Amino acid sequence: MENGTKVGLQNGKIALPNGTKKEVILVTGGSGYLGLHLIEALAKGFSSQYDVAYTYQSHPPSPELHQKLPNVHSFQVDLRTGRGLDIISSTLGHPRVVVNCGALSVPRMCEQDPEAAMAINIPRSVVEWLLSQDMSIPPLLIHLSSDQVYEGDKSFYKEEDETKPVNVYGKSKVASENYVKSNYSNYAILRSSIIYGPQPVVPVPKSLPLQWIDRVLSTGDGEGEFLVNEFRCPIFVTDVVRVVELLIAKHADGGMKLVLNLGGPDRLSRSDMADIVAQVRGYKMELVNRVSTLSMDRGVVSPVDTSMDVTKLVAVLGITLTDFATGIALTFNDKTSVLPKKIETTQLTTTYNNNTNITNSN
Ligand SMILES: NC(=O)c1ccc[n+]([C@@H]2O[C@H](COP(=O)([O-])OP(=O)(O)OC[C@H]3O[C@@H](n4cnc5c(N)ncnc54)[C@H](OP(=O)(O)O)[C@@H]3O)[C@@H](O)[C@H]2O)c1
Repeated sequence: MENGTKVGLQNGKIALPNGTKKEVILVTGGSGYLGLHLIEALAKGFSSQYDVAYTYQSHPPSPELHQKLPNVHSFQVDLRTGRGLDIISSTLGHPRVVVNCGALSVPRMCEQDPEAAMAINIPRSVVEWLLSQDMSIPPLLIHLSSDQVYEGDKSFYKEEDETKPVNVYGKSKVASENYVKSNYSNYAILRSSIIYGPQPVVPVPKSLPLQWIDRVLSTGDGEGEFLVNEFRCPIFVTDVVRVVELLIAKHADGGMKLVLNLGGPDRLSRSDMADIVAQVRGYKMELVNRVSTLSMDRGVVSPVDTSMDVTKLVAVLGITLTDFATGIALTFNDKTSVLPKKIETTQLTTTYNNNTNITNSN
């Protein structure tokens, strides 16, 4: 099913009024949290050069989304089988860039259904479809992986550290990375930590991490539990979008083989995150219920410390990452927020220069 096409079709391809054909950026899994943020930003920032399209599976575009992003094309695709992908190329032509956000992204659900986790999270259908396109330069594939590829038994993982996942979600992400590296020649793999930020252009139904903490603290009923000993480097969603935009801008010559840790600048425990939310939002710090073990079983083993060294990300893309306190204030659009002093983070030692070779796959 294709919606939202506003430009005339010529021989099955988009035809602009002057006869030039725009290139296509496709976001697979574009109906999810990150995907919706991406299609909104890409439609605004890249629309003169690219047509933006996305895929969904169970969440078709709402009338509100059509109204807000009228020129974005949507297609129903099942990533397990690839059904629906050919309609994209026959309608819009070959994509120049694919950002793969499609995933079974909830670790507990992956644990319950490992077969589905592997079938959806390994982008076999997307890669086979891209390889079937007759293009001199293979389209750039930006593939979302996870910090949960790491075992979580040390701090500040580097890209070249061993991957040793402790749950099915992490295993499916390692398998997805290996699949891309072995079968494709123009890719960027992004090992993302928790992505936080505001709701996208149309709200997603799932619980978002910051909004959940805020709700727990604002009700003040002490319901939530915050681990003092599980560490992550949460990244602001706008920074993730910026990373994708910068990678697209770099893609021109093909042959990219890049693996990047995608995390924010702060290594934080779950209770650190709640403390900072309380400070920025003006809640009492006593409301943060700090625990070392959750009383509730999450149904999945979670790696303890997947904090990442993001020096390579910063050096390769020249990006400035948003600190967590600022990200909270921006999320809630809270101009009166009092930002806490900069959080102490361990000094990173690795140095990369800005010309770090993007063909180095680690
Ligand atoms: N959000 C985070 O904190 C975070 C952290 C680390 C890594 N990541 C990774 O970043 C990527 C994007 O995350 P997200 O939070 O945006 O995920 P999300 O909200 O769960 O969205 C997942 C997307 O995948 C699609 N999808 C699921 N099963 C599918 C299938 N069988 N066929 C086709 N599409 C299917 C969904 O489509 P429908 O909804 O239409 O069914 C949706 O568009 C994922 O790879 C995730 O693992 C996210």
